[in-house]
Amino acid sequence: MNATITGWGKCIPQPVVTNADLAAVVETSDEWITSRSGIKERHVSHVNNSDMAALAGRRALSAAGLEPSDLDYIIVATCTADRQIPSAAAYVQAKIGATNAAASDINAGCTGFIYGLSMAHGLIATGTAERVLLVGSERISAFLDLEERSTAVLFGDGAGAVIVERSDDSEGIQSMLLGADGNGAWALTATGLGTEFIGQEARMAIVMDGAEIFRNAVVKMSESVVEAIDRAGWAIEDIDLVIPHQANIRIIDAVRRRLKVSEDIVFVNLDKYGNTSAATIPIALAEAVDEGWIKSGSKVVFVAFGAGMTWGASAFVWGDRVLPESTIDDELPQTDMTGMEILMTKQEALHG
Ligand SMILES: CC(C)(COP(=O)(O)OP(=O)(O)OC[C@H]1O[C@@H](n2cnc3c(N)ncnc32)[C@H](O)[C@@H]1OP(=O)(O)O)[C@@H](O)C(=O)NCCC(=O)NCCS
Repeated sequence: MNATITGWGKCIPQPVVTNADLAAVVETSDEWITSRSGIKERHVSHVNNSDMAALAGRRALSAAGLEPSDLDYIIVATCTADRQIPSAAAYVQAKIGATNAAASDINAGCTGFIYGLSMAHGLIATGTAERVLLVGSERISAFLDLEERSTAVLFGDGAGAVIVERSDDSEGIQSMLLGADGNGAWALTATGLGTEFIGQEARMAIVMDGAEIFRNAVVKMSESVVEAIDRAGWAIEDIDLVIPHQANIRIIDAVRRRLKVSEDIVFVNLDKYGNTSAATIPIALAEAVDEGWIKSGSKVVFVAFGAGMTWGASAFVWGDRVLPESTIDDELPQTDMTGMEILMTKQEALHG
């Protein structure tokens, strides 16, 4: 008995913010952002996190050929839920009509999807669930302060989803590796949100020691891949595709060089979306399958690092399904606002 992925989908909100758009209001430049991170543009959402999550989830269900009522559990990996209470997963359950599913969120920062995959695996292994919808979804633009330029230029919004199902074959999750170091949590935090700030005039922003995060991300992501494939009994040469968390092309390149793998087998799309936190891996996975990077039997490694600090990796053998069972035409509601108008409306509410 194993747990495998049988459906995939993504939801990218339509409004775009380019580096040049940001450079018009923030003291930065396309050259700085591109050379330091590889990011060229990102999308910002005009709808709630759970709206993106629900649409990505419905697309994954359709790809798997399942109905919402087939789901036993919905996990949303996010750190930017619509509300603190209830979970984003509760809203997603209602929005897709998955009446038989339990629902909860998981917050492991940018490592949320890998933690969620491990949780889905556990639910299936214990017989608690047979079919799990796992969504990574973030509306992180809502937490950004454009005056905090070192983080405001790095993040974007979006959602990706997979269906994790019980499988009686050897395909699917071959190993999981998870880790955390709460003593390093200070290096990446959101201020102004949470019980700690009640009664305070705290500014809402994401603040980060970029160099500290960079150093730890390179070390922990490389070590996690080595450990995860070792647990699966694979050598580096066995890997067909690495799908890393999409935070920064320089982190991905440094990990790649340490592992001595070719850039031809490392999936990168951060130039289009920026860092969508827990959503980067499921968005990348959906694109990798749809663009033919993944074939039946492909040996894939997922690896991430994020706030917490947290890290994780999984060695995964893809099953037979490389084409969706079916697709849906639904889209998010249209908006007349540009990406910058959405960001500036929030910024004015923040600072007047
Ligand atoms: C944030 C990051 C891109 C900065 O890159 P870096 O190479 O460390 O930056 P540098 O040291 O070359 O430059 C820092 C300088 O750029 C400035 N700077 C910061 N943000 C800037 C921006 N958006 N535009 C222009 N300049 C900026 C800083 O003020 C600093 O200036 P100073 O030297 O005068 O004090 C990098 O550290 C990083 O990617 N870290 C990991 C971030 C991440 O991925 N986080 C999420 C993990 S899940």
